[in-house]
Amino acid sequence: MKTLIISCSLDPDSRSRQLALAAAGHLRHQQVEAMALDLRDLQLPMCDGDEAFDNPIVSELASQIRQAGSVLLATPVYNFNVSAAAKNLIELTGKAWKDKVVGFLCAAGGRSSYMSIMGLANSLMLDFRCLIIPRFVYATGADFTEGQLTNEQVLERIRELCDITIKLADAMTPVQCDTGER
Ligand SMILES: Cc1cc2nc3c(=O)[nH]c(=O)nc-3n(C[C@H](O)[C@H](O)[C@H](O)COP(=O)(O)O)c2cc1C
Repeated sequence: MKTLIISCSLDPDSRSRQLALAAAGHLRHQQVEAMALDLRDLQLPMCDGDEAFDNPIVSELASQIRQAGSVLLATPVYNFNVSAAAKNLIELTGKAWKDKVVGFLCAAGGRSSYMSIMGLANSLMLDFRCLIIPRFVYATGADFTEGQLTNEQVLERIRELCDITIKLADAMTPVQCDTGER
């Protein structure tokens, strides 16, 4: 089953997008089927709890998530949380996340916001029984040189996240197939 990588920054100079691209590159190098999506390219509506769910772009995105065994979310840290775009994505696609293996790649301004992902992680775990990979990638501006990700430790952590994602997604396949939702 494929791994979906979703970049959740709307900033044209996003650093978390670079984390996403590095993960996609590593997965493909490992001959793993990986698909990268960028929320900048999708005209997603804001979740209104009503008609937004019927939007065809939302349906297509939910279908992509449903078909994936694992999802890597690359997100900015905003206000000690994920970006509003990332949260909106989850609000819109809700049940499509059921039983997914989920990993996080975060870009932040400073080192002290490293637990900012926990609210979303808890929600995915408790609402949709996602298996959250307890190996986050967390990068700050200091890990980039002239806009390029250059910290070898972060690059290694991305590779580790990808490798454990593949193993856990394989282990979860029987559980995901048992749901009868695919
Ligand atoms: C509205 C806003 C809120 C932010 N809040 C935080 C924060 O709480 N903690 C932090 O470490 N960095 C914070 N930052 C810095 C961003 O996390 C940082 O710029 C990061 O690179 C954004 O990800 P991106 O480059 O992928 O868009 C904030 C930036 C913005 C614009």
